[in-house]
Formats: sequence, C-alpha cells, structure tokens
Amino acid sequence: MSSQDIPEENLPAEQDTEPGAVTVADERNPFADPGLPPHEHRIQDIDERAARRSERTVAMLFTLSMLATIAFIASYVAIPKDKSIYVFPIGHISALNFALGLTLGVALFLIGAGAVHWARTLMSDVEIADERHPIEAPPEVKAKVLADFKTGAEESQLGRRKLIRNTMLGALALVPLSGIVLLRDLGPLPGTSLRHTLWSKGKLLVNMNTNQPMRPADVAVGSLTFAKPEGLEEHDENFQVEIAKAALMIVRLQPDNIKDKRELQWSHQGIVAFSKICTHVGCPISLYEQQTHHVLCPCHQSTFDLSDGARVIFGPAGHALPQLRIGVNADGYLEALGDFEEPVGPAFWERG
Ligand code: FES
Repeated sequence: MSSQDIPEENLPAEQDTEPGAVTVADERNPFADPGLPPHEHRIQDIDERAARRSERTVAMLFTLSMLATIAFIASYVAIPKDKSIYVFPIGHISALNFALGLTLGVALFLIGAGAVHWARTLMSDVEIADERHPIEAPPEVKAKVLADFKTGAEESQLGRRKLIRNTMLGALALVPLSGIVLLRDLGPLPGTSLRHTLWSKGKLLVNMNTNQPMRPADVAVGSLTFAKPEGLEEHDENFQVEIAKAALMIVRLQPDNIKDKRELQWSHQGIVAFSKICTHVGCPISLYEQQTHHVLCPCHQSTFDLSDGARVIFGPAGHALPQLRIGVNADGYLEALGDFEEPVGPAFWERG
C-alpha cells in the first residue's frame, strides 16, 4: 500500500505554499526554503495498522535480543570450560567461547536492528535545514582589526624605537634556551655504574627476608626468593643504590626444563639467579608464574621466561634479564662465581 492508494481526505495536511514560495516570514529568514524536496509520507504515517505492524516488529526484535542475552547467561553457567566443538572452517574451538560470542553478538545485533527499524518506520522523518553562517568575517570587520593593529603598533613606537625592538626580539629568542639547562636535571647518565655491582666471586647469597645465607635446600621448586650479597645491610649509606643494582631473584627449576645451555651451566642443580631489575625502565620484578616459569614486571607488563635465559616474551623490555653465575662453597652455601657479565637494569643506553 503506497501513499497514492490512500484517499486524499486521510492524508495529513501539508503546508499550503509551494516549495520555494517566499512568505513574509521567509523574507526575514533566508533558511526558510533550503531547497529540500517535499516531504513524502510513509505508509506508517497514514495507516495506523501499518504503524502497529512496525511497532510489533520492533518489539519482537527487542524481545529476541532479551532471549539471546538469557541464552548468553545460560551458556556461561551450563557449558564446561574445557568442552570443544568443531566449527567449519575454523576447526576445534572452545564451545563456551563460541556460545558466548554467538549469543552476545545476536543480542547486540537485534538491539541494533530493532532501533534501525523503529527509526525508519515510526520516528519522524521530516528533513530540516540547519542554519550555518559564513565563518569569514565581513570586510568591514577585517578592516577594523587591521586598523586597530596599526594603531597599536604606532602607539607602542615599535617601528621608531629600534633598540627596544631588537633587544626584545633577542630576549624572546634566547629565553627558550634556558630549557636546555633543565635537561641536566635528567642526569647524571649512569656511565659504567650499572656494569658493576657488589657481586664478586665467593660472595654468599643472603635471603632478603631472613637475612641468612642460603643453602640449595632452602630453595624449593616453584618458589621465588629474593637475595642480596652478603655484607650489604639496610643501614649502609649506599644500601638503596647497591641493592637496586644487586637484587636477585632465585628460582629452582627442574634442570630438564632449562632450555638455555648457558643458563644451565650457570645454575646449581636447577637453581638460577637473575637480576630482579627490569630491563625496560628498572622496576623491581615480583610476580612469578610457577607453571610457565614466567616472571612479570608490574610496571608495563614485560614478561620474561626464566627457563629460557630470561628472554623477553612480551612487553616493552628490550633485553633478557642478566643472569648471575652461582655455585656452592665448601660449607654448602650458595655463592656468586663473579659479577654480572652485562649491565643490570634499564638497557636503552648501555647496550649496542
Ligand atoms: S619497567 Fe618493567 S616493563 Fe617497564
């Protein structure tokens, strides 16, 4: 049924004037006739039964969306996490993820479809013109601004007092240079200070919590222990600086799980010692995932694989964590077999 089939007396009243005709009101308002085509009524505008049909369609789409959301919740509760299904052409995927994605997608789609159908069939579709004024200033305003500027320049005597003008320009040009001096506060550059730590051959590994030298038996598989060099005490003047460079993470892995050859050689019965300082910008690393042997830096989520030379597997860090070579002394205590062989901490200025 189109608007032509409707008896004329049923049609809503249109405006009396022809499009483009100028009225008294129009003379005051240049936007009254923006040249839009005349409005055509939709079937829903003139036939209440058609409007009712559209209303029911929109309601049905919203109702189906509600059902899809209920199916989403039911899937979450009912489908086991480890169940998989075959979906062509993707292959085997988690049944739970598939159901959640499908039901949520359908629910959102139906809300969108209902809203679009509502807007197209029932909401007002009368086009209106929005008034836009030219952005450019009228010539008389531009002339006034220019004249004001000239007057101001003359009154300030900038053209006549050349000495003032030149020194002012010089001062304005030089003042930004003071920012360069502030750059010094970003330093001092670390130089070679990060290349040397308190670790040296024979230094015992001391548990940071108990303050006791560590034996291999103290390190359980899967645990993460923090260690410092013997002789470094909290009341020492340089404690903060030295601990920031020398802090260690001690982890015991199954030797079979160590993929990196050098790491295995530098370990003792699977006990490995790595710098605790992240190679991104130097945050202390503290999160250890026993199953994967990954450690995570809490600052920007750099992740290192301790079973593979502590190489970076995720995040902004540019280098693996430095490893300390360790062994056991004659008394059965864990000891360092030298200093780190590469600088600890942030890597961006140190390494080529
Ligand atoms: S400091 Fe560790 S990721 Fe940024």
